[in-house]
Amino acid sequence: MPDSTSRGSIAAAVDAVVPSALDDLRRLVAIPSIWADPAHAADTEASAAAVAELAGALGPESVQILRAAGGPTRPGAPAVVAHWPAPEGQPTVLLYAHHDVQPTGGDQNWTSPPFEATERDGRLYGRGAADDKAGVMTHLAVLRAYEGKPPVGVTLFVEGEEESGSPTLPALLREHHELLRADVIVIADAANPAVDVPALTTSLRGLVDLVIEVSMLERPAHSGVYGGPVGDALTALCHSLASLHDAKGEVAVAGLQQNGSEAPDQDEETFRSDVGLLDGVELLGTGTIPERVWHKPAIAVLGIDAPTVAQASNVLLPRARAMVSMRLAPGEDTLAARDKLAGHLRAHVPWGAHVEITPGGGVAEPFSLDARGGAYDAARRAFSEAFGNDAVETGIGGSIPFIAEFARTFPGAAVLVTGVGDPASRWHGIDESLDLGMFARGARAEAFLLDELRA
Ligand code: BES
Ligand code: MN
Ligand code: MN
Repeated sequence: MPDSTSRGSIAAAVDAVVPSALDDLRRLVAIPSIWADPAHAADTEASAAAVAELAGALGPESVQILRAAGGPTRPGAPAVVAHWPAPEGQPTVLLYAHHDVQPTGGDQNWTSPPFEATERDGRLYGRGAADDKAGVMTHLAVLRAYEGKPPVGVTLFVEGEEESGSPTLPALLREHHELLRADVIVIADAANPAVDVPALTTSLRGLVDLVIEVSMLERPAHSGVYGGPVGDALTALCHSLASLHDAKGEVAVAGLQQNGSEAPDQDEETFRSDVGLLDGVELLGTGTIPERVWHKPAIAVLGIDAPTVAQASNVLLPRARAMVSMRLAPGEDTLAARDKLAGHLRAHVPWGAHVEITPGGGVAEPFSLDARGGAYDAARRAFSEAFGNDAVETGIGGSIPFIAEFARTFPGAAVLVTGVGDPASRWHGIDESLDLGMFARGARAEAFLLDELRA
């Protein structure tokens, strides 16, 4: 890297490494690191090893694969930590991303195989191409552009269990507190409102889930001989689930946090087409779209255990269960909200059916931040220069489970939530993808940011 004060030379250095970074992104996408599925534990190890190798080639003082001794059910996922010490008098920046990915939702449903990154029309398709191996490669591209000699101290931290709610991250933070200490934390795991408009994400929703099991009979019973006076457990479960929203589609669980939003309303047609809503299907709830997605709770039923239609026979079902997931507005008390959800479900199970509710392990606290201060101003300058448009402050409806914990652990650190996703990225969906122009702009933006953060 030549003269680090010259933006033009930084931009040129980033542009020069983007092709090799995209090649490495393809290699990472080829590894199905679905940590949440124990069958893919070895792949997640391989993915951590690949990230550690890429980082190790850039001359860090140290590179390690860490894992916490134990989560609730299994040891922690492998996290990669590499450290480039701060030049005298310079701050240290922690660059975060995650190398685990979501399941594919059926490989056969993809236009090209999910673990063979494929380029079409300026986008790279594959599971993790956006969420969040693009974040991993953004950081590595920046370090590569600086030839392993960034202008500030850098700690690269790439965890492997974000999609499972980062259950052992608090333990890692405790055990490696000094190694992970930083003045600024950059979380490259979010999105921008358009491919040429950079965002500083200032709020994220929280997330809780639970499993509700309803039982009514000791065993299946003939649906004609007994049906009528005797009900079935799936219908009872559905009554309870149906009570979660009111007639307008607003969440009906009492006492949850709801916030307004000053953000301008989003265009409904664009929003509908981004998500793929069918003609005539209504939006749920009230308020502007940003209010609903960023600042209000939302509830969805993610799965039901009951016979499939093909397995169905003429019996009254003795039991049925469902997994219910709830997004939480910033400011919400996570565990209290989960209790309110459980209480609501229990109170709405009809006919004296028995109910058992098991809280899920995946808990993400909501988070919001006040983007004022030197690090945020530095980010605004760096991002607008890289994208050619001013950075906008935005919320997101999704969750990043560890942020709140990180911010508590290092209260003096500024947290910058960035990323290279866009509304077409289809996170967690079929045909997930990354806009390649955005990837290059995102890498430039982060390289400029490190330069701006130089004391
Ligand atoms: N990167 C996403 C969150 C996200 C999605 C940010 C879209 C911006 C735009 C993250 O990997 C994620 O999916 N989080 C999970 C957390 C959960 C497993 C605790 C989520 O929101 O479902
Ligand atoms: Mn992510
Ligand atoms: Mn995700």
